[in-house]
Amino acid sequence: MDLTPPGLADVHAARARLQGLLRPTPLIRHPLLAQELGLDVWVKHENHNPTCAFKVRGGLNLIGTLDPGARAAGVVTATTGNHGQSIALACQRYGVPCTIVVPLGNNPEKNAAMRAYGATVVEHGRDFDEARGLVEQLAAERGARYVHSANEPLLVAGVATYALEIFEDLPDVDVIFVPIGGGSGAAGCVTVRDGLGKPTWIVGVQAAGADAFARSWRGPQRVIGERVATFAEGMATRVTFDLTFGILKRGLHDVVTLGEDDLRDGVRLALRATHNLAEGAGAAPLVAARAWRDRLAGKRVVCVMSGGNLDLRTLRQVLGADGA
Ligand SMILES: Cc1ncc(COP(=O)(O)O)c(C=O)c1O
Repeated sequence: MDLTPPGLADVHAARARLQGLLRPTPLIRHPLLAQELGLDVWVKHENHNPTCAFKVRGGLNLIGTLDPGARAAGVVTATTGNHGQSIALACQRYGVPCTIVVPLGNNPEKNAAMRAYGATVVEHGRDFDEARGLVEQLAAERGARYVHSANEPLLVAGVATYALEIFEDLPDVDVIFVPIGGGSGAAGCVTVRDGLGKPTWIVGVQAAGADAFARSWRGPQRVIGERVATFAEGMATRVTFDLTFGILKRGLHDVVTLGEDDLRDGVRLALRATHNLAEGAGAAPLVAARAWRDRLAGKRVVCVMSGGNLDLRTLRQVLGADGA
């Protein structure tokens, strides 16, 4: 497995590959949000991508590089949803057979979306990490390409194209808040920041109920969480991954962890102040910026709204918990 961290040249190559397939996403300063947070804050709307998440950039980049033999053998992957939608969309675009394993009880709307892109979806295991076990077995049995959700330089380079857009639109950005699950999005931000030689802080955001990355990043050694307890499924992972962890251990400024009430409040804040539907992970950077308000005085802040795939049941719960 190639775990060479991508560089800026790889991100530019990814952007060339995505040309004509994706448009740059908007970077918007919502006055209501700026007012409510008391910050010079901008939102990078990765929820406006096809599949409603940033992951699509990585999938199109990786699948676009497969040779005809690999395309014919097909692809297998594990996901809680957005990575899978990205791979399913890319496989449909390039005519590649695609099997996706999701944990039992996974967001039904994400499963339906992956099937709508033509993927075969198999439900297996208690969580994302158990689902991954079956993927490894299927890849070995079929000779199919196992697309890992984080240990893939081409995925990191692909998703890093959003960071390139941020720095082009706002060259003097001081801080970027980005949610962390497997770490590809944050690693992409670090890659571009370093490639451009910028001093910008990249700050990760995690759920307190799934904080293996945060504890690993802070502590002397990498830890594995016992369970994940968060509705923000994009950040629901118990483990860290070699490629992204290596990049982030060196390049991340800090990591903020948020409780479930805060994450729910973030979804409501996104609706109220930006009129966007953000899923838990996509809203998390807004709440992290709010928690850091004092430290961010005078700074120019970007929050990555990484995805908007919130299912109706969860949305009802989030709105119901408002007490309004
Ligand atoms: C909406 C959303 N935000 C953030 C993340 C975390 O991204 P990464 O795994 O690159 O850290 C995910 C992962 O699936 C996601 O779907």
